[in-house]
Amino acid sequence: MNIAVVGTGYVGLVSGVCFAEMGNEVTCVDIDARKVESLRDGRLTIYEPGLEVYFDRGRRENRLRFTTDLAEALAPADVVFLALPTPPAEDGSADLQYVLGVADDIGELLAAHPDWGYKVLVDKSTVPVGTARRVTAAVGAYGLEAGKHFDVVSNPEFLREGVAVDDFMKPERVVVGTDSERAAELMTRLYEPFVRSGNPILVMDEASAEMTKYAANAMLATKITFMNEVANLCDRVGADVDKVRRGIGTDSRIGPKFLYAGIGFGGSCFPKDVQALHRTAREEGYSFEILDAVLRVNDEQRKSMVPHIVDALGDNDGRLDGKTIAVWGLAFKPHTDDVREAPAHVLIREFVGLGADVVAFDPEAVETTRAAFEREPLGGTGSLSYAETAYDAAAGADALVVATEWPEFRRPDLARVRQSMAGDGAPLVFDGRNVFDPKHMAGLGFTYRSVGRPSFPAQEVSDRETAA
Ligand code: UDX
Repeated sequence: MNIAVVGTGYVGLVSGVCFAEMGNEVTCVDIDARKVESLRDGRLTIYEPGLEVYFDRGRRENRLRFTTDLAEALAPADVVFLALPTPPAEDGSADLQYVLGVADDIGELLAAHPDWGYKVLVDKSTVPVGTARRVTAAVGAYGLEAGKHFDVVSNPEFLREGVAVDDFMKPERVVVGTDSERAAELMTRLYEPFVRSGNPILVMDEASAEMTKYAANAMLATKITFMNEVANLCDRVGADVDKVRRGIGTDSRIGPKFLYAGIGFGGSCFPKDVQALHRTAREEGYSFEILDAVLRVNDEQRKSMVPHIVDALGDNDGRLDGKTIAVWGLAFKPHTDDVREAPAHVLIREFVGLGADVVAFDPEAVETTRAAFEREPLGGTGSLSYAETAYDAAAGADALVVATEWPEFRRPDLARVRQSMAGDGAPLVFDGRNVFDPKHMAGLGFTYRSVGRPSFPAQEVSDRETAA
């Protein structure tokens, strides 16, 4: 099939590359000429494990092309994916200017070139319920008829960053929202090779497809937040949230996934989508109570380590001037350089605001962090610097905070970390992702605190004993 993908951001690029890998002819369009040039030259503009192999192959075999010219991509396309940004507007609603702007351009081009034939336009971006209708109206404004010249389909993506290629190539389900049989048939043909294991292609109306995406993300964000609240209560009653997680996760009605307590969720989807759904509900005169709580609790959860650190290290005014805090992990989760809404960033802002000097390390997300804090500078009297390795970050620090559970943080040489940290007593470790075992950490001589699990008194260890 011939496919155009408009927007080479995260979703657009992964979709385009993966469709090409399945043998389709794909042209990706972006208005950002620098991006297009970089992609044409073979330089990927995002970090996503596994993407590069398919990207290289698609380009080499000339199935995957890049252009700034919408017409060039649109003319031969059977299916046109709109993978455009929908950033939250001031009021929390999704800003549709890019999606509707491109719909307008497409309408104009199709009206001027009737010989280009019938096209299926697909909303791939996460868009509020009703957007497919608005896209249909925007294109229809050029005298084109839905069902005859074009159809609009809502086809939400459920990609997780870090495993997006796998998620795309082997989706648990594909949701296709359209009332048009012709469009549904085309979409089914496109996606069949991806669900050969028998996973379903669910065809439904547009509004239900749009709602499915929000409901999925809001449910997952709620699940995490629920566990974070269980963890906060575990802290108070002396229970262990890890054991509770196993205890409830074995119930197939609950399931074992997305039950990990920590310092809250971040990323480009959950915070934005929960807000947008909350907002949609309000617009419809309905108050979606549970989402209100999810947003509030998550905001608090991301900062939940701060009072404990101030208790341990702060001066009489509750400030951290002159203290050094090592932060392991900047990305909102492992295997990505994405720092949008990252809990680590929320914490760093708090620490620097209280006067601390933060030394951060992340295997992938230092550059994106630099850029983020350039756009929105850190206030406060403290500072932020970056270390080359996790060990360099910890060396000389008064406390170590684990903010992202990168695999390399799970089994470091902890004796080396302990010896290199500042002070004579038991060095402080605040584990926001529960990567270490509390008893083991106490045994190694750390004052260790995690989320929803008991702490044990740090044991006195001589360096020799630890090394052995
Ligand atoms: C999410 C959805 O999973 C995906 O289907 C959708 O298309 C986009 O949003 P993503 O944002 O890539 O994907 O990340 P995900 O792996 O879902 O994690 C989101 C956040 O939740 C991360 O900050 C992660 O650290 C946190 N999380 C996840 C927890 O705190 N606990 C968990 O048990 C799981």
